[in-house]
Amino acid sequence: MTTGCILQIALLLCFSITALSRSFNLLQFQQRSTNLECQRLMMKLSGTPESCLNNRTNFEVPKEIEQPRQFQKEDAVLVIHDMLLQIFEIFGKNLSHTGWNETIIENLRSELSDQIDRLKAILDENTEEENPTWENSTTMLWHLRNYYTRIVQYLNAKSYSSCAWTVVWTEIYRNFSFISTLTDYLQN
Ligand SMILES: *[C@@H]1O[C@H](CO)[C@@H](O)[C@H](O)[C@H]1NC(C)=O
Ligand SMILES: *[C@@H]1O[C@H](CO)[C@@H](O)[C@H](O)[C@H]1NC(C)=O
Ligand SMILES: *[C@@H]1O[C@H](CO)[C@@H](O)[C@H](O)[C@H]1NC(C)=O
Ligand SMILES: *[C@@H]1O[C@H](CO)[C@@H](O)[C@H](O)[C@H]1NC(C)=O
Ligand SMILES: *[C@@H]1O[C@H](CO)[C@@H](O)[C@H](O)[C@H]1NC(C)=O
Repeated sequence: MTTGCILQIALLLCFSITALSRSFNLLQFQQRSTNLECQRLMMKLSGTPESCLNNRTNFEVPKEIEQPRQFQKEDAVLVIHDMLLQIFEIFGKNLSHTGWNETIIENLRSELSDQIDRLKAILDENTEEENPTWENSTTMLWHLRNYYTRIVQYLNAKSYSSCAWTVVWTEIYRNFSFISTLTDYLQN
């Protein structure tokens, strides 16, 4: 009986681990598709004058991002989740001066929101485990949030002008290349 029980547990464990690896592979596939789709949608929003880039400002990118270390896949999920959430919120701010197509904005936010939910589901499955890199990741999240807060403060200070949005658009569009780097870590 005991042997059977152990075997059952072993099978169950093996099954969960396989299921989990499969879900990371699927997540990576979905994340790649989200990255491409968000960039494609953002490209459709451009067309604002180059001259606005004179108004560029330094949002002080967290140093953990300028010199990325190796990421555990759970950490990558955590960071991507947070970045997408902040980007989702930024595109919910006042866009009335931009003249951007509202349908495209809605599609962009819905793409972000679907992926945020998928990432969240994986995070919820993994919260039980002890993770040695967790503390560094939370520090990084804290710095990232401050970075996005500076972006919102900038928009506020510039009264959500079309130029200010162009600057922010450029910043966020490029952020997707960092998100793509993080996406590579989702591989098993
Ligand atoms: C952009 O910069 C120009 C000069 O560099 C300035 O005149 C203009 O007010 C700025 N616009 C915004 C929205 O900051
Ligand atoms: C957005 O800004 C415009 C112009 O500044 C203002 O008229 C409008 O009420 C604002 N909309 C929201 C939702 O804050
Ligand atoms: C906004 O974009 C949608 C989808 O690309 C398009 O069908 C629609 O015609 C656009 N609206 C305007 C006002 O350009
Ligand atoms: C956490 O960050 C510190 C300093 O950046 C680094 O020395 C350390 O190796 C990191 N720890 C882990 C587990 O990544
Ligand atoms: C966002 O994009 C800028 C480039 O404009 C880049 O320097 C920065 O590292 C990116 N930030 C994040 C959090 O990926």
